[in-house]
Amino acid sequence: MVKLQKRAVLDLNDSEAVAAMRERLNGVVGGDEELLLCAAADIADGDRFGERWLVLTPERILVAEQRNGSMEPIVQLPLSQVKSAKAETLVGAGILEVTLDDGRRIELLRYTSTLNQEFAWAARSIDEFLRERKKPTPLVSEDEGKKLICPNCKGIIPPWLEGVCPRCIKKSKTLRRIMSYATPYKGLCALAVAITLVQLGVDLIPPYFNKILLDGVFNFNNPMTMPERGRLLLLIVLAMAGLRLLGTGLASARGFITAWLGAKVTYDVRAQLYQYLQRLSLRFYDKKQTGNLISRMSNDTNNLHWLVVDMIPDLVVNSLQLVGITAVLLWMNWKLTIFVLLPAPVVAVFSVAFMRRLHRVYGKQWHLWARMHEVINNVLSGIKIVKAFAQEEQEVKRFSRRNTDLFSAQVRAERTWAAMWPPMAFLSGLGGLLVWLFGGHQVLDGSITIGVLMAFIGYLGMFYGPIQFLPRLNDWISRSLTAAERIFEVLDSEPEAYEDPNAVSIPRIEGRVEFRNVTFGYDKYKPVLHNVSFTVEPGKMLGLVGHSGAGKTTVINLLCRFYDVDEGQILIDGVDIRKLKLEDLRRQIGIVPQDPFLFSGTVAENISYGKPHATRDEIIRAAIAANAHDFIMQMPDGYDSQVGDRGGRLSGGEKQMIAIARAILHNPRILILDEATSSMDSETEKRIQEALARLVESRTTFAIAHRLSTLKSADHLLVLDHGRVVEYGTHEELMEKQGTYYRLVQIQSELSRSIAVGG
Ligand SMILES: Nc1ncnc2c1ncn2[C@@H]1O[C@H](COP(=O)(O)OP(=O)(O)OP(=O)(O)O)[C@@H](O)[C@H]1O
Ligand SMILES: [Mg+2]
Repeated sequence: MVKLQKRAVLDLNDSEAVAAMRERLNGVVGGDEELLLCAAADIADGDRFGERWLVLTPERILVAEQRNGSMEPIVQLPLSQVKSAKAETLVGAGILEVTLDDGRRIELLRYTSTLNQEFAWAARSIDEFLRERKKPTPLVSEDEGKKLICPNCKGIIPPWLEGVCPRCIKKSKTLRRIMSYATPYKGLCALAVAITLVQLGVDLIPPYFNKILLDGVFNFNNPMTMPERGRLLLLIVLAMAGLRLLGTGLASARGFITAWLGAKVTYDVRAQLYQYLQRLSLRFYDKKQTGNLISRMSNDTNNLHWLVVDMIPDLVVNSLQLVGITAVLLWMNWKLTIFVLLPAPVVAVFSVAFMRRLHRVYGKQWHLWARMHEVINNVLSGIKIVKAFAQEEQEVKRFSRRNTDLFSAQVRAERTWAAMWPPMAFLSGLGGLLVWLFGGHQVLDGSITIGVLMAFIGYLGMFYGPIQFLPRLNDWISRSLTAAERIFEVLDSEPEAYEDPNAVSIPRIEGRVEFRNVTFGYDKYKPVLHNVSFTVEPGKMLGLVGHSGAGKTTVINLLCRFYDVDEGQILIDGVDIRKLKLEDLRRQIGIVPQDPFLFSGTVAENISYGKPHATRDEIIRAAIAANAHDFIMQMPDGYDSQVGDRGGRLSGGEKQMIAIARAILHNPRILILDEATSSMDSETEKRIQEALARLVESRTTFAIAHRLSTLKSADHLLVLDHGRVVEYGTHEELMEKQGTYYRLVQIQSELSRSIAVGG
């Protein structure tokens, strides 16, 4: 079964999105041409990031790229020439390819590996359509599919933004929500604002001193004596020094406060986010990539930090400064002010355009950075496979391509900056020249003093800073707000029902488990279990048998309430588990999972994970029962040996033994063994079986094993086939019945005989 994240696939049931898409495809796809499939790839131009759309219509396959606001076709193939389609997975990226009737193969597009599933689906859909004209299964949208086209502005949302349209997020709403995190620190915020206001006032005074100096001290037409002039000069310089000092002190004080506030707010958000991530259901995790969530934890909260520490204060300061200066200028001489303001709109417009362009080049650079990161990450974590298949050369080449791309993008970005910044400065300088020209005339005809002109020039320097800066700031803020929005999206997801006040508490579970007509699918429209019913009495052991993918682990997942059933009920001691306190349930279930996960840390820490305060004695006893003691003692530091990243320094069987010890120490009422001994040799397994036999006494046990001999001691066996119960009974009963179970046993004993003969 393929799990589709649908992040890159346009939902054709969404008429609004389809209309928007058609509008974009105007001129490429005719109005009456049916759209069968639209999927966006995230790589354009061979190896550069960008959008490329794959479009399937009843007549043709089309690849189109977004250029200057509309889509332009890059590849068009009549379906009559196409034989088959295939999605090929490379490390970190994938290629969608078609084979033509004449045997030629054409690469349609490339995408990053995050879209592997979507394009595997797309290739299969094309194939099916070619073979039997079967239309692609329409994708159900629900909450799981993230929109690719913003319903609001009709623009395309890059897939990595996961449905959060950067153009349309409600800035003020998000800002207010961020600010709500600062409410506990209202006093400090008020203080910061007060300091800022005073600071602005202080900043506005020095240019005015210029006027006093020129019109008073250096104006020889007024009747002041020389010593008086000297005294006034000293006084003014001292006052300026005092103001500077005060300004510096205030700036530092404000910096201290915002630094603390910003760090504290992000600290709070991070703490809340992490707590939420722990509480979210597995369903949520199935749909997200862990990498994405990690980036939300680290990058997005980091962005938030800069937003609160730097950008918001800058926004406030610059806006107030602009207002303050304009007011002072108008008060001093409104005619001259007009000249100051003349170039302002041009500068602002230019600045906005400048930012847009920069945004694009830096966005590209950023994405290429991320892509390079992904290659490194992917390859280094799979280094064993790379070496095993002798692909080192290949990987170096691949990396070098990425590296070159990043290099050119960086050069482009810096060049853009270098090319656009000087004209900006020139434009802002124009205002100053106008003031010199017209102000100078006013001085000459005596309507203003030279002091006023100089003060004006001084204020002007302060005026154009914010005008250039504010549009840039606006852009930065939008980007950071997208980050904030992604964090809030997690915080708004529904957590598991830990805190349900109506939940029933069962401090000690007896262990009667009943499945009543349970139907369940990881995707709601695709059931994995159909109408499953069975009962296990307290202290009994149930063996779950079935082919790979039959749904055995799924039964366990439901019992642990990792997922909730779609239909039917699961009862423990007669109580629906949805009414049971989640903590009581999980605390009394011990699970040895199919692929035991060890945290990096020591052996002892891993065994006592469910019971952190266990004594060393308890840990050792659990390890002995799990048959793990001997091999642990042979490790260099015994129980204090490091197990490595994910337990990488241990063998598969050793990991399983530690997982069993962990479950034994947890001392649960319901024990679950999912292939608990699959990686062990028969000898070890036998010894563990003995230990487990002691362990399963007096607890309800669910055991899953492909090696059926392992399940001999089970009281009952439940045979699943494609999510349905096909047989239920004891080993003897099922052998006598000569059904599915009997056949499975036959095959296995034949297999082991032939291995014995052959080997
Ligand atoms: N998280 C998931 N999201 C979507 N589908 C899933 C998920 N986990 C399992 N499935 C699908 O559910 C079906 C049943 O899987 P399950 O893990 O229960 O099989 P199993 O009987 O335990 O197989 P095995 O013996 O190989 O462990 C499979 O088709 C599988 O692809
Ligand atoms: Mg399984």
